[in-house]
Amino acid sequence: MGKIVILTGAGISAESGLGTFRDEGGLWSQHRIEDVATPEGFARNPELVQGFYNTRRTHAAKASPNAAHMALALLQREWPDEVVIVTQNVDGLHEAGGAEDVLHMHGTLAGALCSACRHRWQAPEEMRVGQPCPACQEPTARPDVVWFGEMPYFMDQIYVHLAECELFAAIGTSGQVYPAAAFVHEALAVGAQTFELNLEPSDVVSAFDETRFGPATETVPRWVSDLMGTR
Ligand code: OAD
Repeated sequence: MGKIVILTGAGISAESGLGTFRDEGGLWSQHRIEDVATPEGFARNPELVQGFYNTRRTHAAKASPNAAHMALALLQREWPDEVVIVTQNVDGLHEAGGAEDVLHMHGTLAGALCSACRHRWQAPEEMRVGQPCPACQEPTARPDVVWFGEMPYFMDQIYVHLAECELFAAIGTSGQVYPAAAFVHEALAVGAQTFELNLEPSDVVSAFDETRFGPATETVPRWVSDLMGTR
């Protein structure tokens, strides 16, 4: 078996206590996407947006990786070929669970970004509006997360990995946000075997060869152990 690409979403961190977006009571039932996850929302009300991400940063800092994060890190260490983890999550739980070189396509709460010069640095726990950029001194610091209408990060690298993979898995993601929801089609186009592991079927479930439904802390360690048995 060759290279594996794994896409993760909010569902993998749900059992670490971090809310998902679209499940009942999720973040998008409490906040409007246009207000807190778009460049226009930030321009209109930067206090609201910084506050939203400050709260999420505080929650993420208190959360611990769960058995699903750990199982993927184990797979990465033990699998004879490359295991690439691409996440839509902005928490750092894959890394806290021991994973390496995680591609954060939607950015990370740990980072700050200057909207003026694109300089990046480590975000303080609480970012404030008008905080100066350490490089250009402009008061244009924002969270280094990707908002709707912006280009996700690492896309070139991700498409190269997808073109080379023999196995693709999507874990804990609803399949409602593109381009991530279309990665399965890239993998299918090169003949990869495709797996969906989710609590409930995603919007793109019919594209997958195999599905396993249940909480990630149960399905992911079992799937990893099954895969290791095929080495
Ligand atoms: P969603 O909230 O859209 O979907 C979460 C998925 O996780 C659903 O399919 C749930 O069934 C599943 N789920 C919930 N609990 C689970 C558990 N314990 N184990 C396994 N699966 C579970 O989150 P994402 O698909 O990650 O982007 O959302 C994608 C993007 O939309 C996010 O990165 C974010 C959001 O708007 C931006 O903000 C740009």
